[in-house]
This record gives sequence, structure tokens and C-alpha cells, in this order.
Amino acid sequence: MIICGINAFHGDASAAVFIDGRLSAAVEEERFNRIKHWAGLPIGAGKACLDGEQPDHIAISRNPRANFSSKLRRVITQPGNWNRLLTRAGNNVQTIRASDTLRAAGIGTPKTKFHFVEHHRAHLASAFFCSPFDEAAVISIDGFGDFSSVMWGVGRGNEIELKGAVSFPHSLGIFYTAFTQFLGFAKYGDEYKMMGLSAYGKPRFIPQLHDVVNTHDDQCRLNLDYFIHHTNGVDMSWDAGEPSLGKLFSPKMQHVFGPPRIPRSEILQEQCDLAASVQAVLEENYFALLSFVQKQTAQKAVCLAGGVALNCVANGMIFERSDFRDVYIQPAAHDAGTSIGAALYVQHQILKRPRSFEMRHVYYGPEYSSADIRGALENAGAEAHFLSEDDLVDRTAAQIAEGKIVGWFQGRMEFGPRALGNRSILADPRRKDMKDILNARIKYREPFRPFCPSVLAERVGEYFETDYPSPFMVMAFKIKASQRDLIPAVTHGDGTGRLQTVARDVNPLYWKLIRRFGELTGVPMLLNTSFNENEPIVNTPSEAIDCFLRTNMDVLSIGPYLLLKSENLHVSQNKLAFAAIGTA
Ligand SMILES: [Fe+2]
Repeated sequence: MIICGINAFHGDASAAVFIDGRLSAAVEEERFNRIKHWAGLPIGAGKACLDGEQPDHIAISRNPRANFSSKLRRVITQPGNWNRLLTRAGNNVQTIRASDTLRAAGIGTPKTKFHFVEHHRAHLASAFFCSPFDEAAVISIDGFGDFSSVMWGVGRGNEIELKGAVSFPHSLGIFYTAFTQFLGFAKYGDEYKMMGLSAYGKPRFIPQLHDVVNTHDDQCRLNLDYFIHHTNGVDMSWDAGEPSLGKLFSPKMQHVFGPPRIPRSEILQEQCDLAASVQAVLEENYFALLSFVQKQTAQKAVCLAGGVALNCVANGMIFERSDFRDVYIQPAAHDAGTSIGAALYVQHQILKRPRSFEMRHVYYGPEYSSADIRGALENAGAEAHFLSEDDLVDRTAAQIAEGKIVGWFQGRMEFGPRALGNRSILADPRRKDMKDILNARIKYREPFRPFCPSVLAERVGEYFETDYPSPFMVMAFKIKASQRDLIPAVTHGDGTGRLQTVARDVNPLYWKLIRRFGELTGVPMLLNTSFNENEPIVNTPSEAIDCFLRTNMDVLSIGPYLLLKSENLHVSQNKLAFAAIGTA
């Protein structure tokens, strides 16, 4: 039994394939077409995941018929906005015709059965059915999908019983995204920038923000005077291939909070304070909802998905600010994860198959053989050392301990927004200047954004106040005050670290590297950031080698090969000269 899940026409289009109940592959289309957050129909990802097989079922995480009466009512009560109606109708027609388009591209046969799964049902399925729990509360929170922004219920065995939802135009995700735009972070998916900035401000705008959003029971309510999405719509548009949402906030936002920040302009303390206030009010509403759901369900465990569930600062407080005692957050909590969720919804809710899968890691993307890597090295004309696994680990750890920046390309690519030790750039977390060095030499990102630590799972308690598994880098825990000076490059402005706990049986090679670094330095932890330079995470060996040669990375560990920049200066300079000619 092969089930292919598809996230199409939402951000981060993706595909996932389950074979006999187990996830065999999952990948975002952006990794192939190299356009960040790409939002069309993921043909390349679908083909890569199916690997020549044909699916029995295809599940698309969007259902044009979901909440149809609410959508119709909205159109009838606001008949003036025909453009919005036409855009939405166009998207729905595209979705309904997706089966023809996919078949024409070679994905699916006349026997393949197609399913359209409501967006939030797919989010919920991606959280609960991937979790280790037999029974748990399940909550999905995002901007919007199929006219809802929240859905929650109780998962038991292979079934999720729905209990509540929040409908358009009210949305905690829209509240957060509107202020992300207001603070000058205009691109789709920029919310994590405002979250990073919030650590540097005082939340002194909380009283004013209470007029913008509040949550009673499970119902988030926006004061629509501050917004325009309910009249202008929230459909995605395209800007040079990248998806973007239209402006969400009204002139009233400006009257109350001053002029919006111009993108790329200097950041003022007042704007840090506004970011801190928005984060604090998001947390108030987030925990109002979580606490209500906990009381209603009397469950001790909660499973979370939806874009808002990627707010790792809020997630880090779940045990403090709610009565939940266990948590599973879908690693691809944003829309990419709905491909997994749609497939699991069909598997369990429709086909009634029992559960046999737990998502403990994210290494479901493409993998390349040593021969593939050797071919890419030869093509690039790069010089490399072929090493045994032990030698590769020893030399890589030693280079990081010496302050070098290392590209680490091993095994199957990660699914979801985080590089978790297979497509990562690694550095020494003990060096105070490492954040600035990485920003100046490779990442070119805003100085207020944190870099994150990968820690041996069994040593977390030595460094963090909360010793709970966080394998997917979606929770920020307080770093013990006594340890903060020891690991300054991964300690954020508020004393937290958005950690990845690395268990030996989940990623043995990465675990071994961190352990070796710990033996050399006494600190079993690495700074881990995604392997890319203002682009989607690298997928192929050629992309990794290219990124290594054109940036100021010192070392590349790729499969069994180790490359030193000092031995590849000639090819690197050629690459830079070639790039300069290309852009001239
Ligand atoms: Fe979503």
C-alpha cells in the first residue's frame, strides 16, 4: 500500500510517501527548484519520493469544499471584492485539477484514488499520528488554511476526534505575521526574525496589544479595525518566484504603534520593544488556548502543528505555563508537514489502518552515494582526502575545536525548516566572536538572530534548566546561568538556546562527531546552522561543494571526503571570479 501526501498551493510545497504504513521519503519542492518556500504543485518532490513506484492513494492537504458555506456567506455579504473571489476560485480549480496535472506528469495512474484533506485536519494528523502517544490532545494553529486558523481535538489510537476550530477572519498567526510585516520583515516566512528580535526588547506595548487580539476559551478574536485581510484576502501571490502575502495591517496600526519600520533600515529600541510585546501577547493567547484544551480534554500530553507551533520561544514554556507534561511538536509544523499529515489522515481516518510509525527524525530526503560525491568533486576540480569514518570524525571535530567553520554533508537530507546534522554548517559554540564571524563570512543575516546548539541528548541537563528531549530544534530552553559564558555563541539575548538534542540511535554519525568534540573541549555541543547561503538548504553534493567554494567556509566534510579550503584556494578563486563575471 503506497500513499503519497502532497502539500500544494500553500507555502513550502512538499511531497511525502508512506509504504505499508511507514514514511519512506519526504521533501520540499524548494530543494529542487531552489526557490525558497515555493508554493505550486510539487511534481519534482513527488517523483523523488515515489522513486519510480505508483501510489494507490494521493492525499492533497487542501479541500476546496471544506467550510464551503462559510466561504459562500463571506462572498455574498461582501460581494464587492470580485478579484479576491476570482483568485480563490482559480486556486480551487487548480486544486481540483491537481489530479489531472499530477497524472499528466507521471504521478498516479487511473487506478490511483485521490483525496482532498482539509488543511488543519492534515496538520493535526501530522502531529498526533507521528507522535509516540496512544492518546493526547492535538492542536493546530496557523495563519489560515481552508478558512480556519485553529483546530483542536483528542487523538486516540488511529483516530482524531475534532472538538473545536477558529474560523476566518480571526487568527493568531495573522496577528503575528501582521506585526512581522509592520516591523519591516516583509518576506513570506520571516516570523522567526521578529521572534529573534523579541529577546532584545521590553514588552511595554502589552496594554495596547490587548486591544488588537484576545482569546476566550478556544476562540481567538482579532479587532478587525487593525487589519485588512478580511477585506483584501490572504491568498498567496508571487514575487520573483517566491510566495508572498499581501499587506495585512490597516492604517489604525500606524496610528497606535507609530510608523512601520522600513525594510532593511536600522532597528530602533522601540521596535525591539514592540517585537517583545507581540511575542508576549502571542504567548498569552497561545497558553490561553493550550490551557483551555488541557482542561477540556484532561490529557497530559499535547501534539502541536501549524506555523505558530514553530514559535520555539513559546514552546519552551509549555511545561511552565500549562498543565501538559509531555509534548510532541511536528518537526515540519509549517505547511510542508501537511503532506505527511494528509497521507496519515487517509491511512488512519479513511482506511482505518492501525498505527505503526513514529517520526523520530527528519532524514527523509534524497541521499547520495560516495560515487556521486566523488563525481561532483571531480567535476568541481576540488582536492579532497578520502578518510575512514573514525578519521573523518576526528579531523572534523579537531578543525571545529580550532575555530574553523565546517560544512557537514552526510546521509539523507532533512525534511522541514531545520538542518539537524545532515546538511549543516558547524562551528565552536564556546567562541564569543563565532556568531559575528559566521554572519560576516557566510550567512549575512541580521545580527539579532540566534545560532542554535546541537547537544548530546544524555548531557542536556548539564547545560539547560529543562532536561526534556527536543530533537527537532523547535523548543527554546533556558541555559543555566552558570553555563552561559561557556557557550556564548549559542546563548540568545534572553539566556535561552533553541536546542537540538541528539540521540545516539537517531543520528549515530552526528552523535559521534559531537561526542568527539566534547572529548577535545569538555563541551559536548556544536553550533549548528543550515548548510546554505541565502537559498534553500543544499540538497546535492554539487550544491554543497559550490556553497563551500564560493563562501568563506574553511572545511567541508562530505560523505567520506574531507576538503580544506587552504588546499582548494585555486578552485575557490576560479569560482568567485566566475560568479563575478556572471553578475557583471
Ligand atoms: Fe497551515
